Amino acid sequence: MSTIAAVLAEAQSIIGRLEARALLRHVLHCDEARLIAHGDDDLAAPHAAAYGALVARRAAGEPVAYLTGSREFYGRAFVVTPAVLIPRPETELLVELALQRLPENGGCVLDLGAGSGCIGVTIAAERPQVRVTLVDASADALDVARENAHRFAATNTTVLCSDWYAALGDARYDLIVANPPYVAAGDVHLTRGDLRFEPHSALVAGVDGLADIRRIVAGAPEHLVPGGWLMCEHGHDQADACAALLRQAGFGEVFAARDLAGIRRVSGGGAPTR
Ligand SMILES: C[S@@+](CC[C@H](N)C(=O)[O-])C[C@H]1O[C@@H](n2cnc3c(N)ncnc32)[C@H](O)[C@@H]1O
Repeated sequence: MSTIAAVLAEAQSIIGRLEARALLRHVLHCDEARLIAHGDDDLAAPHAAAYGALVARRAAGEPVAYLTGSREFYGRAFVVTPAVLIPRPETELLVELALQRLPENGGCVLDLGAGSGCIGVTIAAERPQVRVTLVDASADALDVARENAHRFAATNTTVLCSDWYAALGDARYDLIVANPPYVAAGDVHLTRGDLRFEPHSALVAGVDGLADIRRIVAGAPEHLVPGGWLMCEHGHDQADACAALLRQAGFGEVFAARDLAGIRRVSGGGAPTR
């Protein structure tokens, strides 16, 4: 039998310190303080076996979030499974912008391509008086979104399986937020890192990565109230293309907001007046 400290040291040499510790906290259902305090304790055989298996899977490339079933987003630990994209820190910008633009006293939000629900559920949890509709084409993803809505007591959410706006009828919203697939088919990044394990349908959008953004922008005017806003996350080099699409669809006050790395990450605009 080996001590916790010895097992950690070995795992750390394979997958790095932070991930080795995160996986062991997950196996032991404990926090960092307990890991530190119990470094000299022996790791029980079943725990050692479970930990060894996770370290091997991580060494083979599987994302930590899929191994632990969880990823922190906007201060909340979201459930994630391989059916959903792993929430990214840069997507918190879209939540910030949405919260800034929402009317104080309520409103209706549509989250297109909800995945884990990290955007829509966060908005719903932060603003209990807002109604949020979470849409995704993947029923498996929506099961995860539903679980997260339940986990964070976001009873002000509705979950709907739909090909973008197809199942929404004539419903209109104060705000449409979307983090759609925006990677070009054949992009070399799809063969690297976490992306190899994430759903293709959550990542890839046609030959130029803009196929879904085109559909979302084109359909938005029919689903926004006068004075409503559309905001869309996109790739690091897609802000100009998004601005052009928004203007073409009649949106005003078109903007692009930068993430913490200084990259234009979210573009949006005000609903066409007509
Ligand atoms: C980039 S992921 C975003 C997930 C989540 N909103 C996030 O920010 O982590 C895009 C999501 O769009 C969904 N999606 C792809 N095509 C769709 C379509 N035609 N209609 C609705 N949702 C779609 C995928 O299933 C996936 O969950």
